[in-house]
Amino acid sequence: MGEILFSMEPEVVDSVETKFRRIVTPIPVPESLPTIEELQQYEPLSMGGQPLVVWDRAEGINVYDPYGNKWLDMSSGVLVANVGHGRQEVQDAMMELIRRPLLHNYLFPCEIRAKLVKKLAEISPPGLDKVFLLTTGGEAVECAVKLARTHGLRKGGNKKNVIISFENAFHGRTLAAQLVGGIPGLKDWIMNPDPDIHQVPFPGDFRLEDKSFSLFEMILKEKGVNPDDVAGVISETYQGSGAWFLPDEYAHKLRKWCDAHGALLIFDEVQSSFGRTGKLFAFEHYGIDPDIIACGKGISSCLPLSAVMASPEIMDMYEPGSMTSTHTGNPVCCAATLASISLLLDGGVLENAASVGKFLGEELKKLKDEYSGIIGALHGRGMLYGLHIVKKGSIDPDGEMAHRITDRAVKRGLMLFAPVGSGGATIKICPPLIIDEEAVEDGITALREAFEAEAGA
Ligand SMILES: Cc1ncc(COP(=O)(O)O)c(C=O)c1O
Repeated sequence: MGEILFSMEPEVVDSVETKFRRIVTPIPVPESLPTIEELQQYEPLSMGGQPLVVWDRAEGINVYDPYGNKWLDMSSGVLVANVGHGRQEVQDAMMELIRRPLLHNYLFPCEIRAKLVKKLAEISPPGLDKVFLLTTGGEAVECAVKLARTHGLRKGGNKKNVIISFENAFHGRTLAAQLVGGIPGLKDWIMNPDPDIHQVPFPGDFRLEDKSFSLFEMILKEKGVNPDDVAGVISETYQGSGAWFLPDEYAHKLRKWCDAHGALLIFDEVQSSFGRTGKLFAFEHYGIDPDIIACGKGISSCLPLSAVMASPEIMDMYEPGSMTSTHTGNPVCCAATLASISLLLDGGVLENAASVGKFLGEELKKLKDEYSGIIGALHGRGMLYGLHIVKKGSIDPDGEMAHRITDRAVKRGLMLFAPVGSGGATIKICPPLIIDEEAVEDGITALREAFEAEAGA
């Protein structure tokens, strides 16, 4: 299915004025069209597809355009602004480095990077005591896959190189990230797929009947994979395309299976960590620890920084100078990340994500019950939910309806990114973790109005 685009035609909409939202112009704003057109002219087509709102300022739980409109944000950008947009504490920490100035230092020793890797090691599960800083989530995944394969090679020789990942998984857009990705349409360009990377069904999907771990073992057998040749298994801790989690029992069996076969378990926590699900890491919900963690997005709440955490045994396989990156642990990014983690852990943000997140889930459940004909399923935890829009009375995704509802919600002052997942029919609800119950109620009101307008009361 091709990407559905938001219309460039300004629509005169009812004005909105609440404590959290203000819409006082047609959307898209006629004066914003030259900026949007310039982006369309000079950026690749692939950069299109999001609601046509020009972001001018983002603060706390709000996004502002330059034309007097104000949105309540339930996108967090794209699950990044975990402790809120533009927090003063984060700005101050960055400004300290900017004013000093120390804007770049490659791998040369520096205090702020030392503080950050120490902190990340301290908050990771026991044993995952080494931290490699990178820039994007995709890079962290690339590194995790490389470490798992290198580990396999060292432990079991050439044959221990198989990587298992999951259907529908999204791990980023770089080569290894797409090789382990589970969305076939995204990987046509690779042409020569890696014969030792295999996908198995993801058991969280509400459309998949068999959610047992025996399916994992059965599919490997069907594919002729010898379990002892598996170097690593990688999964998003919850699958972003649908906000679906592994069944707990499956997660435990997967951990045991990896241990039994000397395979490393990698959780891609790029989207799910740093409080998003009401826990620091989403794998805490399962009660198991991975061997390698890949993080990004909400780790800093703003600037690009990603991280891989693993044991010294795994992380120290490469000689000095042979696993590096030009922008590793940029000092300004490190400062922002430390300030963000401090707000999350010591400033009450994590607790808020758990408690207000529960309320958000309950409110969305009411909406699902009201619109059960077209909301096929509601999945999620904490501050992360997916509303799966289906063709009335079926389980078939309805991407057009999901898109219309999103468009209407944005025109009511609720910031959402374009629907994702199978058929482009999952509306993701993922506000900054600092949102309170009053703002949640206001956002749900906007969402309900969008459903009423597009799907009938
Ligand atoms: C689970 C997961 N892994 C990896 C990535 C890639 O991150 P980035 O876009 O920073 O490369 C994403 C981005 O959406 C993601 O959600």
